[in-house]
Amino acid sequence: MSEDQPILQVKEVTKAFGGILALNRISFDVHEGDVLGIIGPNGSGKTTVVNCITGFIKMSSGKVYFRGKDISGKPPHKIADMGVTRTFQIMRPYYSLPAYKNLVIPLFSPRAKRTGGWRGGGKLGDRNTVGIDILEEIGFERDSYVPYKTASTLPTGYLKRLELARCLALKPEVILCDEVFSGLSMSEIASMVPLIERLQMDGITVVMIEHRLRELFRVANRVLVMNFGEKLIEGTPDEVMANEKVKEAYFGSEDVEEVMTHA
Ligand SMILES: Nc1ncnc2c1ncn2[C@@H]1O[C@H](COP(=O)(O)OP(=O)(O)OP(=O)(O)O)[C@@H](O)[C@H]1O
Ligand SMILES: [Mg+2]
Repeated sequence: MSEDQPILQVKEVTKAFGGILALNRISFDVHEGDVLGIIGPNGSGKTTVVNCITGFIKMSSGKVYFRGKDISGKPPHKIADMGVTRTFQIMRPYYSLPAYKNLVIPLFSPRAKRTGGWRGGGKLGDRNTVGIDILEEIGFERDSYVPYKTASTLPTGYLKRLELARCLALKPEVILCDEVFSGLSMSEIASMVPLIERLQMDGITVVMIEHRLRELFRVANRVLVMNFGEKLIEGTPDEVMANEKVKEAYFGSEDVEEVMTHA
């Protein structure tokens, strides 16, 4: 494997839902250590591309490679087992279980057993304790009652963190985040940003679908703009902000700086 081989390659992926072409031959690469932001108007195909990469829907045509290995058409659990994980735009915890027990389930997965889970190295030990460790790492106060609360009673901010924690339990190589900031208050978003930065420092490659541009542009080193199931442009946050096509398609006639300030 060459050193500059992308960790993820999306090649000419198309997805049709009946007559709707949700993705139209989209191609892009994600490099190891990247935080790639994906932006685009509602319905532009952002969630669909994550669903295709992670095996949650079958693409109509095209290929996805992880570290050069063809993962197209593999089921989600196989893809997650390889280290490619995702969060859901519409959160999917085990609502009837306490927060930390949501992590005990992935901690029993073959990948967690193989990798030693989360921090890796050595035996996992007591899964309940590891589950609470991960929750603490991701912002649940360990000595409070919050990790023990039933997931259905948790506020959105904690559920978003729980989505990320479920990925971390697998010691992922890649996390695809589908709108982890949506529904959060400004202060909750501000406290999530360092978490994303820490994932990157821990060597995890991050793909972030986001409408919150100001925060996204702080953490992303590359940004891909989608429109009508296609890649409009791709570049650094500065290049994307300066692009006329992006201003027209994504921001209408508004000034990007203005949008960023009020994002
Ligand atoms: N399961 C489905 N069945 C039929 N059409 C679908 C399905 N999932 C997505 N679509 C359609 O595919 C297109 C892309 O949807 P997608 O959810 O990927 O957009 P998105 O960019 O994630 O939007 P948003 O910003 O609102 O989350 C839309 O036209 C949507 O209606
Ligand atoms: Mg979406």
